[in-house]
Amino acid sequence: MITISILNLKGGVGKTHTAANMAYELHRRGYKVLLIDNDKQGNLSRTYNRYNAQEIAPITKLLSLQYDADEEIIQETDYEWLHIISANMSLFGATWNLTKEQDVIQIDRYKDFVGWTAIDEVYDYCIIDNPPDLGLNVVNALTITNEVIVPVKIDEDALEGLDIVTGQIEDAKAFNSRLKLAGVLVTSYQNTDGEAAGLAWLLEQSAYKVLGVIRYSKKVAESSFMRKPIYEYSPCCAAAQDYKKFVTKYTGKAR
Ligand SMILES: Nc1ncnc2c1ncn2[C@@H]1O[C@H](COP(=O)(O)OP(=O)(O)O)[C@@H](O)[C@H]1O
Ligand SMILES: [Mg+2]
Repeated sequence: MITISILNLKGGVGKTHTAANMAYELHRRGYKVLLIDNDKQGNLSRTYNRYNAQEIAPITKLLSLQYDADEEIIQETDYEWLHIISANMSLFGATWNLTKEQDVIQIDRYKDFVGWTAIDEVYDYCIIDNPPDLGLNVVNALTITNEVIVPVKIDEDALEGLDIVTGQIEDAKAFNSRLKLAGVLVTSYQNTDGEAAGLAWLLEQSAYKVLGVIRYSKKVAESSFMRKPIYEYSPCCAAAQDYKKFVTKYTGKAR
């Protein structure tokens, strides 16, 4: 299993859409995919219609060791072999409580779950959608991550905070030597003079590999309302086509 964390300290840069659509695209190519919604907002869970505000969310149970079997944690979605560990606001309390527990190992909760279950052998990919911070739940995610993808929107400070993410990745290598930054993914791109100049500048920055460019498409917001991955909602729109292209490049395989 290859585990990919979608991470950026900024909100609204396309993290959740990237996690949702990258996972869907991998599923469409026949891979077995596990999604982890690591954000208390639960937007990824909503995309796959698995958001439940009433109960303690599976990700919360995982972080606070409140489970006996992996079936309590992993849910199916409407798509075959595209499974999810969903989130809601209860994750906030669990993360906060873990912060207070200074005499226990705080960063191995997700790693222990991977070790205890067979998910490493069962799934081809695990995609983790993260909140725009570096809380203990994010450190838990980095502990099991192989590659970090940073979605960015082109503006004058597109790379702001990236040095902090890079620093955190370097620190996390102390407990996960396989961890690396794969690169940045430009999202919601509009071909204006300003964004074109910003993209040209970004492509010159040797510190960050540009993994792809996802064009702006008004269908993306609609797909959120419809609780569908973009390819299911509008397969021909620019964003759906670009996520496809990105996954082909990322995996090195056309299908
Ligand atoms: N390719 C795109 N085209 C148009 N809008 C997009 C695109 N990608 C993301 N968005 C919009 O940007 C906003 C933030 O996206 P989201 O994935 O929720 O970001 P994050 O998880 O980083 O907060 C949403 O309103 C979403 O509809
Ligand atoms: Mg999000």
